[in-house]
Amino acid sequence: MIIAVDGPTASGKGTIARGLGKHFGLPVLDTGLLYRAVGLQARKMGLDPDDPMDAARATEFPDMLLKEPELRTVACGALASRVSVHKRVRAALLERQRKFAAQPGGAILDGRDIGTVIAPDAEVKLFVTASLEARARRRHAESHSRGEKLTLDQVMDDLAKRDERDRNRAEAPLLQAEDALLLDNSDMTPAEALQAAIDAVEQAM
Ligand code: C5P
Repeated sequence: MIIAVDGPTASGKGTIARGLGKHFGLPVLDTGLLYRAVGLQARKMGLDPDDPMDAARATEFPDMLLKEPELRTVACGALASRVSVHKRVRAALLERQRKFAAQPGGAILDGRDIGTVIAPDAEVKLFVTASLEARARRRHAESHSRGEKLTLDQVMDDLAKRDERDRNRAEAPLLQAEDALLLDNSDMTPAEALQAAIDAVEQAM
């Protein structure tokens, strides 16, 4: 069984994907980390994240990079969003994601285009979202606990920019698959949101 969990930045999709993984005993791939690694690699190599050829070169990052805590920063998220608009970058990361999805026991992937491009035949598709305000508050608290000194306004501005870029790009834009279940968790606790996701998966089984 493949479970696709898509949605905008800081929507809680990562928490839901990990929670589902634990509950159903399935491996989870946070595909955003791959794009973040490309962004970080581009910066380390002095490459231009907005240049398609430069960004494509950065897809050959060492696996060790995926373990760097820096990948989780707001700055790396912004870099990821810039490199992820390029067709070559998306193509270079496609096989890796499809392979993960094809594991015999099933898998959970979270990202932007899992239900639409990576695994259009996924048995369960969730589109996880929350209001811009709710997402900004969560991301702000998270960035603060990591020692990043950003104001709530700065975080909200960054999220709005990323939403806009992710939704309007030509390649695999962020959009709810026709057969995806919408899970708006603006007014839910993380536990309630996870339970709603578990219920949706059980109904599909
Ligand atoms: O989910 P996360 O915030 O880690 O993703 C960082 C950026 O990577 C997103 O803003 C998006 O531009 C890009 N991304 C993508 N496709 C995915 C996952 C992430 O384009 N499947």
